[in-house]
Amino acid sequence: MRPKVLQLITEGKTKKVWETENPDLVILEFKDDITAFDGAKHDVISGKGAINAAISAKIFEHLNKNGIPTHFVEFVAPRYHVVRRLEMIPLEVVCRNIATGHLVKRLPMIKDGTRLEFPVLEFYLKDDKLHDPLINDHHVVLLKLASWKEIEEMKKITLRVNEVLRTFFEERGLILVDFKLEFGRDRNGKLLVGDELNGDAMRIWDMYTGKILDKDVYRKGYPLDEVLVRYREFYRRVVGADFPGEEVCLAT
Ligand SMILES: Nc1ncnc2c1ncn2[C@@H]1O[C@H](COP(=O)(O)OP(=O)(O)OP(=O)(O)O)[C@@H](O)[C@H]1O
Ligand SMILES: [Mg+2]
Repeated sequence: MRPKVLQLITEGKTKKVWETENPDLVILEFKDDITAFDGAKHDVISGKGAINAAISAKIFEHLNKNGIPTHFVEFVAPRYHVVRRLEMIPLEVVCRNIATGHLVKRLPMIKDGTRLEFPVLEFYLKDDKLHDPLINDHHVVLLKLASWKEIEEMKKITLRVNEVLRTFFEERGLILVDFKLEFGRDRNGKLLVGDELNGDAMRIWDMYTGKILDKDVYRKGYPLDEVLVRYREFYRRVVGADFPGEEVCLAT
């Protein structure tokens, strides 16, 4: 059952976090905003929030079923998640299966599209002003973001999520190129996977056509109606039905 909504706790670029009458639960509201390049590019696509909320719900349900510790409790259609309230760790834990994006820009000797021999893990500091710099384990401990033990735990969980999701997407004719997780601690200090898992948090290619079905189409400057078409296709493949909403795009 959906708990009663109280105050707005915080509003990010793509989601609002609402306090509830249960101090251990918050509600995430998925907005229609889409952003890239640390917020420098921004638009609103009607239906995007509902699409992303539904995709994220399916994926989190699957992770919970597979025994992965996550914040997800319940999907309240069309755009709300009831989740465990976490003290978020300002890190993006990235896992890569295929080289693209940042990795090939930083290390151009690795060709774009190369299948990596093993999943490559990276930490990025979540800080828009610093453009989310790549950092290592030592920096994470030095900045007191997490302990050595928590770092090992985050790595272990991320690799497990990768295994579970690679199979999940393969069964749907999709390739999991890479993804990022955000972790937080519950009131007992337990690490849980938080935030969202959808086309804003991962790269997904169609296994047969190579078509991009994630936020990269927006980063690459495709028209907003085409971005919506790709997000709807991702929805169809994950949810198993057409997204019922309308297709109106509003540039801002
Ligand atoms: N279970 C949770 N408990 C508390 N806060 C959460 C939880 N899950 C996610 N959050 C936080 O909700 C906030 C709002 O999300 P949103 O993604 O819009 O913000 P953002 O990270 O500032 O922007 P962006 O992701 O676009 O860079 C983020 O700070 C995120 O870390
Ligand atoms: Mg975010």
